[in-house]
Amino acid sequence: MQLTVNGQRREVTHPDEMLVWVLRDELGLTGTHYGCGIGACGSCTVLIGGQVTRACLTPASAAAGREVTTVEGLARGERLHPVQQGFLENPLQCGWCLPGHLMSAAALLERTPDPTPAQIEEAAGINLCRCGGYNSIRRAVARAAELKREGL
Ligand code: FES
Ligand code: FES
Repeated sequence: MQLTVNGQRREVTHPDEMLVWVLRDELGLTGTHYGCGIGACGSCTVLIGGQVTRACLTPASAAAGREVTTVEGLARGERLHPVQQGFLENPLQCGWCLPGHLMSAAALLERTPDPTPAQIEEAAGINLCRCGGYNSIRRAVARAAELKREGL
């Protein structure tokens, strides 16, 4: 089976495997993290067709014919995505949760360029941070929205 991941067609030999493992083990895209495995933590979050998706609960075959975006697909060459810049300016601690927060924030800003604090709270709240970095996460997403509106 073929998948389109970060704009590239990739051959996948285990389509029934969960997407997180196909991305990490088959395609070498280890930016997508594995945490709980039960859809609770969000560290495995990727976008399928622009929709926030838990890759630990989603077979790779479910992404057939749709665009998969992982954290490796956010930057454009040397140019960071606004969410990456936002978190760079508002760093977290261990960073295990970071890929999930980046992907959720990218999806939020795609549909809501000027999110309210409540909308940021709601979008960020679907991902856990074991280090308790929620204030940094809120600031990072708000900063990313500002940067995106400025055209970064
Ligand atoms: S590893 Fe997928 S939600 Fe935790
Ligand atoms: S920074 Fe450690 S889990 Fe979020």
